[in-house]
Order: sequence, then C-alpha cells, then structure tokens
Amino acid sequence: MNSKTGLSLTQAPPISVPLRFFLTAPLFGLAAAILFFWFGPAAIETRWSPVTLAITHLLTLGFLLMAIIGAMMQMLPVMVGSPLNRPRVLSTVVHVFLCLGLLALACGFLFTNKILIIISMPSLAAGLLLFAGAASTSLMRAATINATVTGMRLSVAALVVTLVLALIVSTGHAWSWHVPKTITNVHMTWGLVGTVSLLIIGVAYEVVPMFQMTPAYPGWMKRRFTTLLFIGLLLWSALYALQSNGSTLMTVLADLASSFLALWLLVFAVITYRLQGQRKRRTPDVSVHFWRTGLICLGLCAVLWVVSRLWPALDNWPRLNMLLGVLMIVGFAVSVINAMLYKIAPFLVWLHSQHLPGSARAIPNMN
Ligand code: HEM
Repeated sequence: MNSKTGLSLTQAPPISVPLRFFLTAPLFGLAAAILFFWFGPAAIETRWSPVTLAITHLLTLGFLLMAIIGAMMQMLPVMVGSPLNRPRVLSTVVHVFLCLGLLALACGFLFTNKILIIISMPSLAAGLLLFAGAASTSLMRAATINATVTGMRLSVAALVVTLVLALIVSTGHAWSWHVPKTITNVHMTWGLVGTVSLLIIGVAYEVVPMFQMTPAYPGWMKRRFTTLLFIGLLLWSALYALQSNGSTLMTVLADLASSFLALWLLVFAVITYRLQGQRKRRTPDVSVHFWRTGLICLGLCAVLWVVSRLWPALDNWPRLNMLLGVLMIVGFAVSVINAMLYKIAPFLVWLHSQHLPGSARAIPNMN
C-alpha cells in the first residue's frame, strides 16, 4: 500500500478486467444518442414511451452501471485493498450477462417484444447478482471500514433492491400484468439516488481530493452522510407505499422524506463544488468541468423537486418528470461518471504500461 496515495497498486487486476466495461459503456451511450437522433422529440415526450424506456436503460444500465462495475472491479483491490476472487472469470461472466440482458431489454422496450423482455430478466439478474455477491464478499473482507467502503456497501445493497423492483416492474411488460406505477418510481429512485448517487458520493471522498488536490471532505460528512441517505431512502419508500392508500398525512410525510433526500443531495453538490473551488491544481482540466456541470445539474434537480412539493402548479406541469430525469441521469450522473473515467482510464493505461517491456517511452501523456 502506498502511504502517500493509500493505493495498493500491486493488487491491481489485469487491465482487461475493468477495460471491457469502460470500452462497452460509451457504445451503449452512443446507442442511446442514435435513438435520440432517430426519434427526435418523440424520445422525450412522455416517460412511458417504448423509446424513452429503451434510452433510459441504455444510459443507466449501459453507460452508468457498466462504468461503475468496471471502476469497482479496479477500486476494490486497489483502493479498498480487498481483491475480488477470480477477477478474469468474474468480469467475463458479468460482462456477457449484462450486455446480452441489456440488449434484450432495450430491444424488448423498443419493439414492444415480450419474449425479449422475458429473456432480459434472468440475464440481467444473473449478471447483477453475481457482481453484487462478489463485491459484497470483498467489501465485507475490507481491513479498514472508511467512508468510501460504507458508500460502496450501501450502493451494492441499493443495487439489489433496484434489481428486485426491476424484476417486478418487468413482469408488467412481459406478461401484461398490472404493476402500479408507484413501484416504478421506487425502482428508479433506488437506482438513481441509491445505487448511482451513493457510489458517486462514496468514491468522491477519495477521488476528488486525490485527483484535484482539494482539501478533504468534512469529517461529519464522511461519517454519516451516505448512511443517512440510505435510511432516508428506506423511510421514503415505506411512506410512499403507504401514501398510495390516499392518506393525506402519508402524502405529506412522503413529500417531507423525498425533500430530505433532495436537500441531502444538494448539500453534497454544494460542498463538492466549494471544495473544487479550493483545488491546488489550477491547470485547465476537462474532468473538473464535467464535475461542475454534474453538480450544477444535481443542485437544479434537487431544488426543482423541493419546489414542486410546495407549488402544485409546478408539480402538475407535464414536463416536470422528464426535466428531472434528464437533469439527474444525463446532467448529473453521466457527467460525473465521465469526469471519473477521464482520470481513471488514462491512469490505468499508464499503470499497466509500466509493466510492458521496453514500452515506457511510448506511453502517451496522461492528458
Ligand atoms: C441501476 C439500474 C437501473 C436504473 C438506474 C433504472 C432506472 C429506471 C428508470 C429511471 C425508470 C423510469 C423510466 C421512465 O420514467 O421513463 C425505469 C423503469 C423501468 N425499469 Fe429500470 N433501471 C435500472 C435497472 C433495471 C433492470 C435491471 C431492469 C430489468 C430487469 C429494469 C426494468 C425496468 C422496467 C421494466 C421499467 C418500466 C416500468 C414501467 O413501465 O412501469 N430496470 N428504470
């Protein structure tokens, strides 16, 4: 373990392990972009159109989760110091299940094809559960439990909840069963606020100070932030489920809980933005621009949500959900994951090139 960076570089897995995920993530992002161009405004007219659901999952599962899984396969041994068992086999199997399952899901949505949706379910479940099982085992073995390990553990737990709810909502598409839209909203919140945001926050504690040379995150934040966000998610889910009985009290409590989640994310955005303003490394850096775009979109999304709880006219605006989704998925998550990839991918290539005989001078500049 390097005492300066806290990284165990000797434990790094073969580069093919993370790289297969990093190389496929942009391809699914590209597929989402092509669908946008092809369908034009119809792609963002309503949440429930087949093309919107296809684009949503090409971005969330195809780009975000693909990059997150690749990054975790690299970070668990290097940053947490707890290697995954048989990383080559694990990454191959998870990657194949994820790619096949996602292609089936996206095409199933796009062509309203039930068989493809049915095929996607076991494939995505196998890939994601295999990854969640391996990551949990590694995280349980971690020698030190710091804020990043806690964030990762909670994110993996949220992934399992997201998957279970995903399988329930998928039955609606596969067998034309009626599944209440409440479950879809809980599914997407566990996916975006749980899996994706918890992971980004947990990893930000390490990578923002390390890559951008900022001061560390405040101690109180590192101790409690992700745990409170997770508890808030549990509480909100219970209240939101009870609210569907039509109780006004439950509606008010569920709105309070969801506003807490939004404000909590706003706090993360403001603190990270301010830390980045104090960074020592002042050279122009595209990764900082991505971070800042992402944090501004997250802040806007949070404020818009809280205001819509207080102002019925905004809540009833038909475009609100689409705007929130675009700010959260494309504005925040895609930008920040891009920011991380811009640092992690060159670093990985540089690190692995060190071991190639006689190639040292051919290594491209990190920028
Ligand atoms: C981290 C992973 C995931 C995230 C972030 C995510 C996100 C979302 C979002 C945002 C929506 C709402 C779409 C909209 O309003 O247009 C949604 C709906 C849906 N998701 Fe996911 N999803 C994830 C994983 C999955 C998986 C693994 C499956 C299938 C096994 C799945 C199946 C579905 C289905 C069927 C719907 C539509 C539900 C309906 O029509 O009511 N999702 N998801």
